[in-house]
Amino acid sequence: MQKLNELLTNQTIEDSAWKALEKSILYYKGRPVGTVAAVDVSVEALNYDQCFIRDFVSSALIFLIKGRADIVRNFLEETLKLQPKDRQLDAYKPGRGLIPASFKVVTDNGEEYLEADFGEHAIARVTPVDSCLWWILLLRAYVVATKDFSLAYQPEFQTGIRLIMEICLANRFDMYPTLLVPDGACMIDRRLGIYGHPLELQVLFYAALRAAREMLVCQGNQDVVEAIDNRLPLLCAHIRQHYWIDIHRLNAIYRFKSEEYGKTAVNLFNIYVDSIPYYELDKWLPKEGGYMAGNVGPSQLDTRFFAVGNLMSIISDLATEEQSQAIMTLIEDRWEDLVGDMPMKICYPALEDEEYRIVTGCDPKNIPWSYHNAGSWPVLMWMLAAASVKTGKPYLAAKALEIAQGRLLEDEWPEYYDGKKGRLIGKQARKYQTWTIAGFLLASELMKDASHLSLVSFEKLPPELISRACEFEIRSVDTSVSL
Ligand code: GLC
Repeated sequence: MQKLNELLTNQTIEDSAWKALEKSILYYKGRPVGTVAAVDVSVEALNYDQCFIRDFVSSALIFLIKGRADIVRNFLEETLKLQPKDRQLDAYKPGRGLIPASFKVVTDNGEEYLEADFGEHAIARVTPVDSCLWWILLLRAYVVATKDFSLAYQPEFQTGIRLIMEICLANRFDMYPTLLVPDGACMIDRRLGIYGHPLELQVLFYAALRAAREMLVCQGNQDVVEAIDNRLPLLCAHIRQHYWIDIHRLNAIYRFKSEEYGKTAVNLFNIYVDSIPYYELDKWLPKEGGYMAGNVGPSQLDTRFFAVGNLMSIISDLATEEQSQAIMTLIEDRWEDLVGDMPMKICYPALEDEEYRIVTGCDPKNIPWSYHNAGSWPVLMWMLAAASVKTGKPYLAAKALEIAQGRLLEDEWPEYYDGKKGRLIGKQARKYQTWTIAGFLLASELMKDASHLSLVSFEKLPPELISRACEFEIRSVDTSVSL
């Protein structure tokens, strides 16, 4: 009897979520083309009345699952038109190949058109790097769901993919296989000390390379395909090797020598032991657990745990099987810290005191344990569910879903929660935040039917590419990670 009651309640929550999601649909010339970020009339909209590419991902996936592929197709077609196709001479204009952070419908003289924001209007003028990567992942999800390659094979789409690959694979001022990016270029779109090579973007880059590889027609694109094939194994090896932290690796880093010059260096990035919070990590890392570091660069190893990067590394198969299991073990063993009373923290731990002031620039929205600075974001639930299902630990997703179910509807679907346990509705959180609603629905669907995982997940890299990765000289021989 109790079970039946529970079931009814869950159904009621899902029904309410669906109604709220439908209200968020954005129409352009009479066609549904996306969802707005939040439908909260109680606060000033700012740009929350726009359709954000990253926010739309969870809506799109649930639409694909529920047979509303038309909305996703419209979205892909319209956003593709917003992508700049020509070389840009004006440095204040978006570069060729970028996909905007968001767009809105504007009416001028009775005529509707779409206005994109590539960061030129955004707070702090942050450029989105993740949009073009999520866009490719969505196109692939559309193809997987509909089994219809023809959209991706259209010349405009082939050009779109190619231009994104060109901007991502262009030579830069560093010699890593990872992507060098500014701060605030992804879900964390405010200064939080993640410039350089932040995990979230590296993982999305990896997944987008794989998706592009599947969808690009070789004819006319051989050069890009070859560039992808060269980059993928190096990127994969680099992240598996240099971002990985577990107790073995921590021990190795703890005894690193510094100031090594030349080819035989082991401490490649010259990490200074004093920069790592060893004693906290020694206590916090479970014996069998591990995770990918937030960032790796010159004398920099950001040991914060970032949820999107770690969960997506499991989903995209960037993490090895062993690493994926270890990440989930960490989440399970450190549940109170990482999940607490609302799944789940965007990063952990928070930057506090002087570090908070220097790194965030005294951002009042990112005070410790709030918003991006270790706040809890319900949208992450779908990634947690997908990663749990993929690693054979669906009970973790079920537990998370149960926690969320008890609060989200009553709290009116907040954007984020604050506090060490995630018990406080975010200080400046919008209500009826679309990706909170869609993330919840998506997590439920992934739990009900694991086959939906194929929309976002990848299998192992083909063996011929792995062997290329092994040819790559991995000089940090102190790690237990195998490729
Ligand atoms: C905030 C978030 C960003 C999100 C946007 C719209 O700026 O940091 O990730 O895309 O809100 O919801």
